[in-house]
Amino acid sequence: MQQDVILVLDLGSEENPKIAREIRALGVYSEIHPHDLTAAELGAIPNIRGVILNGGKNRIVDGVAIDASEAVYALNVPMLAVDHDAKSGEKISAWPEDDAARAAVLSAFLFDKCGCGKTWNTQNFIDDQIERIRRQVGDGKVLLALSGGVDSSVVAALLIKAIGDRLTCVHVNHGLLRKGEPEQVVRVFRDELGANLIYVDAVDRFLDKLAGVADPEKKRKIIGAEFIRVFEEEARKLEGISFLGQGTIYPDIIESGTKTVKAVKSHHNVGGLPEDLQFELVEPLKMLFKDEVRAVGAALGLPDSMVYRQPFPGPGLGVRCVGAITRDRLEAVRESDAILREEFAKHGLEGKVWQYFTIVPDIKSVGVRDNKRADEWPCVIRAVNTVDAMTATVEELDWSLIHTLTERITHEVPGVNRVLIDVTPKPTGTIEWE
Ligand code: XMP
Repeated sequence: MQQDVILVLDLGSEENPKIAREIRALGVYSEIHPHDLTAAELGAIPNIRGVILNGGKNRIVDGVAIDASEAVYALNVPMLAVDHDAKSGEKISAWPEDDAARAAVLSAFLFDKCGCGKTWNTQNFIDDQIERIRRQVGDGKVLLALSGGVDSSVVAALLIKAIGDRLTCVHVNHGLLRKGEPEQVVRVFRDELGANLIYVDAVDRFLDKLAGVADPEKKRKIIGAEFIRVFEEEARKLEGISFLGQGTIYPDIIESGTKTVKAVKSHHNVGGLPEDLQFELVEPLKMLFKDEVRAVGAALGLPDSMVYRQPFPGPGLGVRCVGAITRDRLEAVRESDAILREEFAKHGLEGKVWQYFTIVPDIKSVGVRDNKRADEWPCVIRAVNTVDAMTATVEELDWSLIHTLTERITHEVPGVNRVLIDVTPKPTGTIEWE
């Protein structure tokens, strides 16, 4: 199906993703692009119905105010210029602050000026992607690293729909996942969706490599590099696979930098596969925002616990087992995290608090257990709210919940004799402890 497309061109606004998101929320597909698109690049985007020249405070680049390319002006579609004198089209001085007022400006442009149809919705996206995946892959085979995170799970579900058992998923259990997660991946994908799933128990490999390593960056590097190695070994055992599925989403692309804003962050999970393993990428989610990815996952029948799961770092519980990872302390992190999640769910906090977890640092203090001195670890509870993870506030927990957590964690988690609460916002703390 031909989607109507609205281009949001980056002329130095910091609000490009927000505006693109709001256009999609009105039922019209939108994409963000640099200001200087060439005629050839424009030609590759079918059905452009309108252009927003989104100016803002980063419009001066190297001392010159940037403007859209001649090719953009030659498009001959309605244009809306924000914050600057464009060569043609309507102009507004700035986006209104208020959401409803912005939606009104956008609606007038999308529907009255550009005549867009409301064709952007989850079901159309799924149908369209299934067709595109089939076209791209032909009768080939696809390999996918399935971590159980939202993005890789939704890619897996889409690929299963599109090509069935010509998809091979590899789930690497590195021992740093939350309690029950590897089992859930196997149950949902192999048992319920019938996927071709290779489960790799690499727990010993990872923990042996990490033994004695206390430096957080070294830990991250070891986990990332070992992950690639395990995945590569599995890939080499398989034959006739020429495509690699990837859970890239739109913010990954936007955050890797535009022409007016420097990269926000580089990706800290993804390493490269060796060059002799050459795959063509299949990235069906690369134009979706996170909430759209979740909607697609839900529509494809993935369980809520997978689709709405809270963010979880790539290096997993490894960065919450602060200091050199040992098996017993790692278990203390995993068990206390499971108790925390269970109690948050019971108290109606699941889905309300952005991220919550426990940390068990490598220190011991004296306590009393069974009338004897016992040197054990403290377990730290961290629960935060944020919009973009750049800053965060602390969730204020009820004392009754704190008492329950303390009672359960100190009695059910071997090796923990104290419970502490981290009440530090970001800044000065980061969300994770490492
Ligand atoms: P910080 O600790 O930097 O975390 O305030 C911000 C958000 O990023 C997550 N995080 C990571 N995610 N790999 C990831 O995929 C990592 O190495 C990593 N470190 C932190 C963190 O959980 C929080 O949501």
